[in-house]
Amino acid sequence: MTFDFDTVIDRRHTDSFKWRRYAGRDVLPLWVADMDFASPPEVLAALHARVDHGIFGYAEPMPSVIDAVMAMLEREYNWRIEAEWIAAWTPGVAVALHVVSRMLEHPEDAVLTSTPIYPPFLHAPLNMGRALRKDPLVERTAEASTIDHPTSRFEMAFDRLADALAPPTRAFLFCHPQNPTGRVWSRTELDQVAETCLRHGTLVCSDEVHNGLILDADKRHIPLATLSPEIAARTITLMSPSKTYNIAGLMCACAIIPDAALRRRFQRAARGIVNELTPFGYVACEAAYRHGEPWRQALLAYLRENRDLVEATVAALPGLRMNHVEATYLAWIDCRATGWEHPVATFEATGVGLSDGTLFGAPGWARLNFGCPRPILREALARMGRAFGSSRQPPT
Ligand SMILES: Cc1ncc(COP(=O)(O)O)c(C=O)c1O
Repeated sequence: MTFDFDTVIDRRHTDSFKWRRYAGRDVLPLWVADMDFASPPEVLAALHARVDHGIFGYAEPMPSVIDAVMAMLEREYNWRIEAEWIAAWTPGVAVALHVVSRMLEHPEDAVLTSTPIYPPFLHAPLNMGRALRKDPLVERTAEASTIDHPTSRFEMAFDRLADALAPPTRAFLFCHPQNPTGRVWSRTELDQVAETCLRHGTLVCSDEVHNGLILDADKRHIPLATLSPEIAARTITLMSPSKTYNIAGLMCACAIIPDAALRRRFQRAARGIVNELTPFGYVACEAAYRHGEPWRQALLAYLRENRDLVEATVAALPGLRMNHVEATYLAWIDCRATGWEHPVATFEATGVGLSDGTLFGAPGWARLNFGCPRPILREALARMGRAFGSSRQPPT
């Protein structure tokens, strides 16, 4: 079966958060993390069938959606979970980051996260009245690699992380795969995270929302909780089909918590801040996990080509650089050498809307979302080239 990712579906006159930011302006939005592709046909069919039923009262997860999550975890990661480990369904992953922050008992208890990071990791602890500690990732030259491009990559500085995870830090908000750097944490790196958290008794919230978007064939996603029963007992894994199957607006995520006491703490902390999900979220989640695999494989092939185009273009533009994107549809671009005061504003002026790195804790950087049809991406990259003078054209 073939899928069409090339056709541009006009979102300009819809409720799209991504497109409405630049309503009435000729700016291509390559910022917030949703894609400009229709979801898998099986997801659309399941949603149509649910609409045809005609009644949309309060919903709860059917056993079949729980089975679909469990089957996906076993199929993809050989992770056999019990149904009750799905401690809660939440309307999105970001709300669960807030719940985890709320689980800490004392205001002086701190939540740690590595920067640069998807902004709600920075906001959630503060919104919940908890202290936030930040540990910067470091850019290091990569070891010899089987893929041709890596010149450097972001890594955790484990010597420093060990201190940062010590009390008053009680919880680590871990982004795996990492947004915005696109890193897929290796088994060795995950072992170090697990070992350090176990040594300090730190609770780990492993946000694995990008688990289905591993682009490199020689990398794989390893859920942190599968490393050992000991780390599983301290881990809250957040998963959702939202990024992979482009259903973020349907707000459906779950928290997988093997430890019974931790489950109860999460459920207590969720009271009053987690509402019911919509029936559409459950229906789409089940269809995506049950039937979406051929579409996902085709998507990954398409995204790989988009990524390669972005990497080649950025390499050819003066003052811009980026590391190889191992996962996600997000490119993290270092614009500091351009000398521009506001790189995102400069690109906006040439007709491309990127996310400002400042929001991720990294001024001078920008995040580009390449989850879009190639005609849009090519046009956006050409416009970015114009910020440097009209003679520079991106590779085709
Ligand atoms: C790492 C990460 N976590 C959570 C989210 C948000 O998920 P949701 O829309 O389900 O709240 C995103 C969205 O970009 C993300 O990149």
